[in-house]
Amino acid sequence: MSHCRVVQATRQIGYEVHMAELLRDGSSSGLMHRVAERRALMVCSPTVARLYGEALHRELARENPAVSFLVLQVSEATKTMDQVAAVCRAALEAKLDRRAVLISVGGGVISDIVTMAASWIRRGIDHLRVPTTLVGQVDAGIGIKGAVNFESKKNYIGVFHPPSAVLVDPRFLHSLPARHVRFGLSEIIKIALVRDAALFHLVEQHADEFMSAPLDGERAPVRELVWRSILGMVDELQPNLYEDRTYERLVDFGHTFSPALESASAYVIHHGDAVAIDMALSSAIATHCGLLSPDQFERMLAVFKRIGLPTWSPLLTLERVECSLTEAARHRGGCVNLVVPTAVGRAEFLRQQTEIPTSLLESALARNAAGAGSKMPPRVFRRSSPPAETASL
Ligand SMILES: NC(=O)c1ccc[n+]([C@@H]2O[C@H](COP(=O)([O-])OP(=O)(O)OC[C@H]3O[C@@H](n4cnc5c(N)ncnc54)[C@H](O)[C@@H]3O)[C@@H](O)[C@H]2O)c1
Ligand SMILES: [Zn+2]
Repeated sequence: MSHCRVVQATRQIGYEVHMAELLRDGSSSGLMHRVAERRALMVCSPTVARLYGEALHRELARENPAVSFLVLQVSEATKTMDQVAAVCRAALEAKLDRRAVLISVGGGVISDIVTMAASWIRRGIDHLRVPTTLVGQVDAGIGIKGAVNFESKKNYIGVFHPPSAVLVDPRFLHSLPARHVRFGLSEIIKIALVRDAALFHLVEQHADEFMSAPLDGERAPVRELVWRSILGMVDELQPNLYEDRTYERLVDFGHTFSPALESASAYVIHHGDAVAIDMALSSAIATHCGLLSPDQFERMLAVFKRIGLPTWSPLLTLERVECSLTEAARHRGGCVNLVVPTAVGRAEFLRQQTEIPTSLLESALARNAAGAGSKMPPRVFRRSSPPAETASL
């Protein structure tokens, strides 16, 4: 008799991403009917609490007094297990049961922490997301992942735990500082360059408007920017939601060299800027391989410049670039799978490191250094410490 029994199960998941109206008087009903009569805990950062969270909570609590409110002092540096535990503690105090729901209102840091907490509490309760940053609305808030930093390793501990709904209201963006608009545009350009030429054209047409004034979520170009980016992102994520189907992910564009760059700068270089530098290098590599025309490359860089996105950093040395490729192959099933654009809106993968010889990397780095006005050729460092750590987002 065999003492082996295979246990198998599949779980169907589905969630809605909605353009919602949460910032008009009485319009939080979209949120209200999803919470209904359940116990709930809304979680915000202090800034978002002051700007929107307190008012939203007041409105919900008027109809359902079992909706509690937690303000968490969060930042990238404190996106840790302690913060997840703080949400769990508040959930316990608020007597959240198995049917209860957590509501994150804020940027990617808040939604990551709340996603983690929702997956832990009673082995998984419901959560709703109301992303209020551009990164949150087009990227962090719409997938099924949540993660926190652990022992200096970014996003080391994480979960796949889908929300039941994501309510996106671009009117929240009105109060977003310009640098956070820039970081969001970096992720939007990522998705535009690999799959949506019309989205890139939209950014190109309105770059000055997007960067020069508060983002007006009532305006059609802003709404189209957000919604088109969401559709592009969701279409890319859906066939590989649990990241177990393929290691060839177009959304990895800009995310091969950026982790090492962020880490080398001790996170002074923000993720959005690091992604832009990575995209510029990957595109320069494509140009040097003859896959991308110089005209298309210049067209991309012109948009980066208008938005204020950097295209080069002296910290992105040849050695870090080569280490990043090796590290990428470790994370991507043995292939580097470097995403390179072949035109605005189209991309392919350079699968093997041998397709990207050192001389080509040197030329691409030198080209971007010169383009950024640096007189210095990229320096080659000999490694004296372990390769920069990377973590997938
Ligand atoms: N889980 C995922 O799939 C995923 C994907 C991408 C990024 N992320 C994570 O997201 C985080 C970055 O998210 P982020 O860029 O949204 O930054 P963030 O969450 O740190 O928010 C940025 C700042 O903006 C403030 N803010 C939020 N909304 C505002 C508004 N409407 N007006 C004014 N200020 C506002 C916040 O209080 C915060 O100080 C990172 O930790 C990253 O790892 C997660
Ligand atoms: Zn990113």
